[in-house]
This record gives sequence, structure tokens and C-alpha cells, in this order.
Amino acid sequence: MSAFWHPFAEMSKVQHAPFIVDRGEGIYVYDEEGRRYLDAAASLWYMNVGYGREEIIDAMTAQLRKLAAFHTFIDYGTRPPIELAEKIAAVSPDAGSKVFFGSGGSDAVDTAAKMARRYFNAVGQPERTVFISREWAYHGMHPYGTSLGGMEPNRIGYGGDLVADIVIVPYDDPEAVGKAIDHAGAERIAGIFVEPVIGAGGVRPVEPAYLTGVQDLIHQAGGLYVSDEVITGFGRAGDWFAANRFGLEPDLITFAKGVTCGYAPLGGVIASPKVAAPFFDTPGLVFRHGYTYSGHTTACAAGLVVMDILEREGLLSRAASLEEELYQALLPIEELEVVDSIRRGVGALAAVQLAVGDDETLPARASVACRQAGVLTRAMGGGALQISPPLIITPDQVNEMATLIRAGLEGL
Ligand SMILES: Cc1ncc(COP(=O)(O)O)c(C=O)c1O
Repeated sequence: MSAFWHPFAEMSKVQHAPFIVDRGEGIYVYDEEGRRYLDAAASLWYMNVGYGREEIIDAMTAQLRKLAAFHTFIDYGTRPPIELAEKIAAVSPDAGSKVFFGSGGSDAVDTAAKMARRYFNAVGQPERTVFISREWAYHGMHPYGTSLGGMEPNRIGYGGDLVADIVIVPYDDPEAVGKAIDHAGAERIAGIFVEPVIGAGGVRPVEPAYLTGVQDLIHQAGGLYVSDEVITGFGRAGDWFAANRFGLEPDLITFAKGVTCGYAPLGGVIASPKVAAPFFDTPGLVFRHGYTYSGHTTACAAGLVVMDILEREGLLSRAASLEEELYQALLPIEELEVVDSIRRGVGALAAVQLAVGDDETLPARASVACRQAGVLTRAMGGGALQISPPLIITPDQVNEMATLIRAGLEGL
């Protein structure tokens, strides 16, 4: 028994038997007995460049020695966040964008929602308070993210909605977005939050035409299109952002995870010139928002090296080719009785949809069985196993991953 309270855990059970990961190397992690596991989920979707990257560790160590951290409130700054913001803006769909940092994806989502509402107040449209989001969506666990989430179990149990004025629509139906706009009144729409491919809700891609169509509808209504790229950003979707890949022009992009690949916690919001302009051009106008660790010095130093690695090692195009490779490697597993189908994602994303039926325990049992077979994955929304390996995975290792997953599922 320990004092540690695990997120999303049934602590009455987990407190007696946590699974301890001890060290990592490349795409593998090891438990305290030295047993090796292939990490098919890149921890929680983020270990894109792999474990144990010396150059990230060296850059962070050098930064820690020089200045571990200094805050960035008001006019204070340090070089790493300023440089990282430049680099991120340069690879985003609009190079004139501005970057607001926080410590992770939930910070990013709540920052984006508050930024949108503050923007509309600043431009004289304070009545725009309604956000649309989608079934199966996961937007983190801060109050806005919780209320924007499309998986009910994550939203209920708090005696009501944490945040008001949120409408949830089916994840793949543009007409439902149009109806939600009409129902709320276009003049009240602040924006829509869209994961380019639903992640934690089960890896559920949509047609690119859905994304552009919904973006048009929201823009016609005068609202903002928020591309939640906490999973898809920084390479996983086969480009810097899924928005680049699909030719989107989001007003806001949220990011986290892959920006530092977990070497330090970091996330943020990329604000398009339209949204940033009032704040950058109007004397006296202040976005009174920020976190102690907004633009954390050493976290941003890690981010700079991660971006270099992604570029130098061609990991964006590697992620693009993994789309087909993962799907083809996993497809033969479809013949197993416990598997319903293999779902192709976008870039280095896929899912093994389990034939759950009435057996609600199957997803948890399946992920433990895979672990016992030597591969780490996770049960996601709707009873699918998460496949999102580090982008450095080789074709041989993709086959090894599929073999280990099959071995795990065959034992059920
Ligand atoms: C799309 C999306 N948005 C937001 C979040 C929340 O990020 P974090 O857990 O870093 O707060 C996640 C986390 O998985 C996510 O997948």
C-alpha cells in the first residue's frame, strides 16, 4: 500500500498491486525484475522519439545547471520558451501565429476556451459563450475539458455540469454541427473543439471533408475552430500538425505530449493572427491568464531538441508511412474471436477493436494479457486497444508488436 493515488484508477484494487515501470530504452520499457515490454502506446501517446535520448537529457541537464526555471509572467522571459514559440509558429499552418504555454493538454484546452471567450469579449461579442464538442471526444480533465468531453462516465458524478453552454454532437456528422449552431443561435457560438482523429475515445478517424466542412460551418457562424492536437501534434499524424496535413486553418491549436515527448511536462495553444491581434495590438488589453510553469525553461529546452530530432530523423514522414504499416501488421489479428476489427487511424495511430459484447471486463483483461505477453497497450473508449507506438519503431519492431499482441489476445 502506498500514499500514491493513481489517475483513472480503481484504487481499492490498484493500491495493492501497481505495475511499476523502472527504465526505458528506445521503444522498450523494463519492469523492476528486468522484464522487457514493447511500448505499443508510447506511454500515453507521447514518447514519440523514444526513451533514453541522450541529446535531450544533455540539453536539459545543461539548462538545469544554468537556470532550471524562471517564470514568464508580465515582462519576464527566458530564451528557451521564446525560441520554442518561434519554432512552433513557423511549422504551424500560419507562421504569424502566437504561442501560449502551459504544462499539459488539459491546461491547453482550458486556456483555448478561455482565450476564445476573452477574444470575443475584446472584439465586442461577449454573448459568444457556447462551445460545440463531439461524442467520444477527450479534451483533458480540467473543468472545461471535462465538460467538453464526449464520454459520459468522465463527465458525470459532479452534481451537474462543471461548465455551462456546451453542446455535444455525434462525432462524424457535419449536419449535427449545423443543427447545433441553429439551435443555440449563430450569434452565441464561441467555437468548436475537434480532435482531427478522436484519440482516447478509441482512435476514430473522420473523412478530411468532415473537418473542412465543420470548419466552414463554424466560421460562417462567426465562431472559432479549435483543433485539439494534443495527440496528433508534433508528428504523430504524419505532419507537424494534422491541420497542416488536411489543409485546415484553425483559429486555435492545442498541443502537449509530443512537444517534449514526456521528457518534461509542457503544452500550449497556438493562436492564429486573428485571435492574437487584439491582445498584441491594443494598449491596456491583458489576457489575465497563465500558470506558474507557463513557458517552463527546462521543459522548453527539451522541446527545442525534440523538434530538431523530429526534423533530422524524418519522423513526420515515418509517422505517415506507419499508417499503412500498423494496419497491415495488425490485420491478421482480426481472425481472433475476441477481436471485432482493426481500425486504421491517421499517421501512427490504430486500434484493435475488441468484440466486447456483454463482457465489460474484456478490455481490461485484454490489456493485462498483452502486458503479460510483453507488449504495453491500453483499453480506450468503446473497448479498443490503443496502438500508438514511438515514431522511431522499425518495420521489424512493428511485426514484433503485432506478434506480441496476438500472443496476448490468444491467451484470453
Ligand atoms: C486530445 C486531447 N486533449 C487533451 C488531453 C489532455 O492532456 P493532459 O492529460 O496532458 O492534460 C488529452 C490527453 O490525452 C488528449 O488526448
